[in-house]
Amino acid sequence: MTKITSYPRTLRRVLVRHRIIRSLLIVFIAWNLIELNLILRRISESDISYRERPRRQERIYIASVNWNNEIILRSHWSQAVLDLAWNLGPENVYISIYESGSYDNTKGALMDLDVELDRLRVPRNITLSHVTHDDEINAPPGDEGWIVTPQGRTELRRIPYLSRIRNLSLEPLYELAKQGITFDKILFLNDVVFTPNDIFELLDTNHGNYAAACSMDFSKPPHYYDTFALRDASGHEAIMSTWPFFRDSVSRHAMKSMSPVPVKSCWNGMVAMPAAPFMSKSPLRFRGIPDSLAASHLEGSECCLIHADNPLTAQHGVYVNPLVRVGYSGPAYVAVNPAINWLSSRTILQGLWTNRFRRWTSSPWFKEKSVSNRVAQWTALSDENREPGQFCIINEMQILHPWGWDHV
Ligand SMILES: *[C@@H]1O[C@H](CO)[C@@H](O)[C@H](O)[C@H]1NC(C)=O
Ligand SMILES: *[C@@H]1O[C@H](CO)[C@@H](O)[C@H](O)[C@H]1NC(C)=O
Repeated sequence: MTKITSYPRTLRRVLVRHRIIRSLLIVFIAWNLIELNLILRRISESDISYRERPRRQERIYIASVNWNNEIILRSHWSQAVLDLAWNLGPENVYISIYESGSYDNTKGALMDLDVELDRLRVPRNITLSHVTHDDEINAPPGDEGWIVTPQGRTELRRIPYLSRIRNLSLEPLYELAKQGITFDKILFLNDVVFTPNDIFELLDTNHGNYAAACSMDFSKPPHYYDTFALRDASGHEAIMSTWPFFRDSVSRHAMKSMSPVPVKSCWNGMVAMPAAPFMSKSPLRFRGIPDSLAASHLEGSECCLIHADNPLTAQHGVYVNPLVRVGYSGPAYVAVNPAINWLSSRTILQGLWTNRFRRWTSSPWFKEKSVSNRVAQWTALSDENREPGQFCIINEMQILHPWGWDHV
């Protein structure tokens, strides 16, 4: 008797459960399709607005440091710089290039560029220094920028060295200011493949209102390149090296809608910054973290610390512009700038779910805690020990090496 009544009840329960699962599945698929559709639409709309952007008239100081990059100079970069100078108008630009100690013929490539710039009457300072990494590391250790490694050797830190070189690329800015020649923006260029349109789009990021605007850089697409300087709006490293990159929801949502992405720091190939902070009474400069802090096996990029130091950051913000994607080679540039939709449906869905999965199953807490503990210990040692760029710092010790640099 009981068996007879219970049988259809179980069946009904199974059927109901089945229906619930099916409805959930439909909702899940619909949600993914709607989200995918919205993102694809934003991507194709932004491609169009990118092409239609009018450009504003500004005076631009272009700063670049070069080392062992003859190939890209000759294949793309020099021509792109010439096109850019021509498009901006030679009377509105100044080009400052600092090269030192390349082992290839970067100097020759820059001398050729110099001839072409002269033909266009572009004002410039191209400095070719013969001081190599070898010379730098074999010099007697100075008061700053040297560190004792765990192996007990005194070595030249990479970041203070790079800061010094970057500062040198800004030197003509001050000389020009003394002559009454000033600029609205500084454009920092890495050895990347870019077009003048990329630059106009970058300069116009967030309608021109920013403390810094960066491109996105790719060496091996779809993976972005410069992990050392990129921090999301809450100061975390990117959660993944492919789209949509970020853990922070503000950064991630902006990325998904292809709008300027608020971040705490970025560099990523090309950066535009208002020139004013570099010209103020206590001028903004590139720097490393103090040697005494680096001694705790810590390091931070000069390209991140500059945003922590920039007084404009709080009010105007730092942005990554997802419309401006540059490459460290021709193929890398083409891969992230196809004629339509740089992201496929599959890349988008995979990215969204990889991102969710990682957010739900990981935390940056442990990694960041090991850094913040060491910074706190150092801060407690003296009132003078302050580091505003803690979010830039990672658990690494980097020293200069004849052929580049090393972790120790
Ligand atoms: C950066 O540049 C300024 C001015 O040229 C200089 O005083 C400072 O020492 C430089 N910083 C580094 C780390 O070289
Ligand atoms: C060019 O730049 C270098 C490096 O910063 C600087 O030492 C030099 O004085 C500059 N030359 C001119 C003519 O401005």
